[in-house]
Amino acid sequence: MADLRILRADGDALFRDWRHVHNTIIPTHALSLEDVRERSTRNVLDVAYAGDALVGCMTVRAPEGDDATVTVIARVLPGHRRQGYGTRLYGQGLEQARALGAGAIETVVLESNHEGLLFARAQGFVEVERYLLDGDTIPYITLRLP
Ligand SMILES: CC(C)(COP(=O)(O)OP(=O)(O)OC[C@H]1O[C@@H](n2cnc3c(N)ncnc32)[C@H](O)[C@@H]1OP(=O)(O)O)[C@@H](O)C(=O)NCCC(=O)NCCS
Repeated sequence: MADLRILRADGDALFRDWRHVHNTIIPTHALSLEDVRERSTRNVLDVAYAGDALVGCMTVRAPEGDDATVTVIARVLPGHRRQGYGTRLYGQGLEQARALGAGAIETVVLESNHEGLLFARAQGFVEVERYLLDGDTIPYITLRLP
């Protein structure tokens, strides 16, 4: 496995790469560059590279609710999967979540992302909720670490 570099997205060049990975994997909810800039004010956004190749991105949301739930979402481009990058990204996301004071950890997977569901279950997550966003046809699944 090539060395994985995980960078905090803090400017337009990295926001563009983050957006490319997000929109490739979640085409049902494509974001504009302006959307990504706005998200970066609320969430921690990271971008992952293997050598010079863009391979993935991650979102760690700010703690929410009484139990300070932090949502961690790792994404790896289809051509780079099953090489351990998702596990590395997710491990960094968990560290960030703990640093934010997380009382619980959740993740969100589009129902059609079968690999995402298998990955999340392999990490020990269990499904807690399914929901449809306005205008969407494929539900999101919320999973939580017990
Ligand atoms: C989920 C995702 C990030 C995994 O990335 P990845 O780099 O392929 O993950 P890893 O190589 O670290 O896989 C770790 C383990 O997850 C499980 N897994 C991942 N993809 C799998 C698949 N297609 N089939 C079966 N098991 C799978 C396996 O247990 C795997 O370990 P193994 O390869 O030793 O068998 C990637 O598939 C993705 O971006 N999916 C869409 C986005 C998403 O749904 N993200 C939410 C999850 S946090």
